[in-house]
Amino acid sequence: MRIVHTIAELRQALAGSTRTAFVPTMGNLHEGHLSLVKLAKEHGGPVVASIFVNRLQFAPHEDFDRYPRTLERDCDLLRSVGCNVVFAPSEEELYPEPQVYKVHPPEELAGILEGHFRPGFFTGVCTVVLKLFNCVQPRVAVFGKKDYQQLMVVRRMVRQLALPIEIVAGETARADDGLALSSRNGYLSPAERAEAVRLSMALRQVELALRVEKRTDVAAVEQEAVDELRRRGWAPDYVAVRRRTDLQPPAPEELQAGEPLVVLAAARLGTTRLIDNLEI
Ligand code: PAF
Repeated sequence: MRIVHTIAELRQALAGSTRTAFVPTMGNLHEGHLSLVKLAKEHGGPVVASIFVNRLQFAPHEDFDRYPRTLERDCDLLRSVGCNVVFAPSEEELYPEPQVYKVHPPEELAGILEGHFRPGFFTGVCTVVLKLFNCVQPRVAVFGKKDYQQLMVVRRMVRQLALPIEIVAGETARADDGLALSSRNGYLSPAERAEAVRLSMALRQVELALRVEKRTDVAAVEQEAVDELRRRGWAPDYVAVRRRTDLQPPAPEELQAGEPLVVLAAARLGTTRLIDNLEI
């Protein structure tokens, strides 16, 4: 496995490759990332993983500075699953001058849910992802469903800008108790870690209410999930039932007709903000 830090080295390492499969990450890798690398291997090769904590997608009060940087361990893990190239650029390499050309995804998709609570987040994501795509020039790129809205925003960017890249979605990896794996889980105290599973349980509750109990009062179901999390000491940003196609709320008749839905949630536990979702 080659580890490269500059765009020039990366281009040299990938010269002549026509089936490159790419997994962008911010490092501090866990089983979820590794499953995306394994999926990438099924779709092409060489497999390139990038490790870059992208300042552009963090608001000033967010965790950019304390986001764990664990390059050596990450590289060991990537090597163990057969990754071929790691691209780990410095900030100076990727942003040698202020990044004033940016990709602004449409409000109707990127200004809701995560985009509402983290203004500018998807602009930062799209800008770095497009830049990384230009560096790596993959045929396939793999994104996890854990960041469901991100996956949709990137898919739409690729379609709208006619990028010759297939976007493949990887399932969310979960701990035995159901907690979605996330680099931010490492911030949790032991007590918070034990409580954290309640977020995925809240999603299951919503699924049960809509799909088994056949309730149609979606807003009330969402509110009950929010209230329950709040009672347990969480500070929820949202629990939202949305159409999988465009992340808009389903109309009552679509609910009756079994429209494919996803329930998405974001909530803070102590100082840690967790997100999760469930296709229902
Ligand atoms: O999902 C992430 O880790 C990041 O948002 C990504 C796609 C690597 C862009 O910085």
